[in-house]
Amino acid sequence: MNEVKILLPESEIPTHWYNIQADMPNKPLPPLHPGTKQPVGPQDLAPLFPMELIKQEVSQEPFIEIPDEVRDIYRQWRPSPLFRARRLEKALDTPAKIYYKYEGVSPSGSHKTNTAVAQAYYNKQEGVKKITTETGAGQWGTALSIACQMFGIECDVYMVRISFNQKPYRKALMNAFGATVYSSPTNRTQAGRNILASDPDTAGSLGIAISEAIEMAVQDEHTKYALGSVLNHVLTHQTIIGQECLKQMEMAGDFPDIIIAPLGGGSNFAGISFPFLRENLVNGKKVRCIAVEPASCPKLTQGEFRYDFGDTAGYTPLLPMYTLGHNFRPAAIHAGGLRYHGASVLCSQLLRDRLIEAVAIQQIECFEAGITFAKAEGIIPAPEANHAIAQAIREANNCKLTGESKTILFNLCGHGHLDMQAYSDYFDGKLQDHQLTKEELTGSLVELADYPSIG
Ligand SMILES: Cc1ncc(COP(=O)(O)O)c(C=O)c1O
Repeated sequence: MNEVKILLPESEIPTHWYNIQADMPNKPLPPLHPGTKQPVGPQDLAPLFPMELIKQEVSQEPFIEIPDEVRDIYRQWRPSPLFRARRLEKALDTPAKIYYKYEGVSPSGSHKTNTAVAQAYYNKQEGVKKITTETGAGQWGTALSIACQMFGIECDVYMVRISFNQKPYRKALMNAFGATVYSSPTNRTQAGRNILASDPDTAGSLGIAISEAIEMAVQDEHTKYALGSVLNHVLTHQTIIGQECLKQMEMAGDFPDIIIAPLGGGSNFAGISFPFLRENLVNGKKVRCIAVEPASCPKLTQGEFRYDFGDTAGYTPLLPMYTLGHNFRPAAIHAGGLRYHGASVLCSQLLRDRLIEAVAIQQIECFEAGITFAKAEGIIPAPEANHAIAQAIREANNCKLTGESKTILFNLCGHGHLDMQAYSDYFDGKLQDHQLTKEELTGSLVELADYPSIG
């Protein structure tokens, strides 16, 4: 049968998240305290996160049970559909088989809700009254807003200024879900005031917004902070995506040769790829997993693997990761969720060990790919997701040249309904590719000389 949608019933929602730490040949290096340069302990993180999430951060258990209450909420949109992109295959005239997992069906329009609900749940369990967070494109802020609303927790969102200006409907959406949204940098925090004093016209960045949200959280014992990417527990929550895909690919009688996802901090990439990487690590499969980053923020392909802060002000522990330096200010590309200077510790270690691959693509090629996809499949992708589509099209075109019929699976991690300004700019010829100069690439890395490097 020529199926297009491969659907699972609600009863097949996975019962556990997959924790790749259990199976990694080289365990990730520990986060370090910036003052002592010693590994941080759970108590160092306790002002920011509920203890259950801190435990998940360091857990070596391969599977972590999903609480019933979280699974119950997941039923609002999970299992998400897996599509066979038959119309795209035809448009590309490729022998490749292309599948995409569509996470845009979640209430907030992206994969981010998978971890937002889990994080809000654990905060509620520990009596937290308010959560602060950052958001780039607005997808994470929206996801946390709805999750906090579901658990009766207040939510303050620091939204990167350029996205705040580009995407006014995102703010309205977060407001509709009961959150308060600030354009970051603000005058409310020392981190924000410092940036505004040195660069009043700054576009903002995820690193700055994270600093602001952390600064506000540590000032109040009933407030905690939530991060939408990068941290181990966030990546683990997202593995529900790939676990569903494993079942859906089996239903389709197929198995991917290549898995592709965009990478900002690493959560949707981890989400779709880690359960398949387990198949590589434990069951001898050989799936290629490719993370796609914007050419204007190329930490994986041109950054350094070393200790760096997760935020701009230097409030977080030092994390061992591929980074461009925490003061790197990415160009104002439309894929706001990919404008982050570093990559998650787990993805960084896997790349270092050559267990995953990375490519960087310019934004115009990504938008061209997004339009090709939209014309064929009828879904407008989030600009972040266009990065995955661009690489999927490259791979499919490659198959056309070689005559191979590879199976390609990519993560359509969000829809772009609130990103139409980006598409308008593309149609008006206003989008630009950004060639990084050597100074831009290395300028923020040289500032890290005083922090531990990794041999
Ligand atoms: C739709 C979408 N995709 C991808 C990303 C990148 O984040 P991550 O690498 O954690 O998936 C974001 C981040 O905001 C996003 O909103």
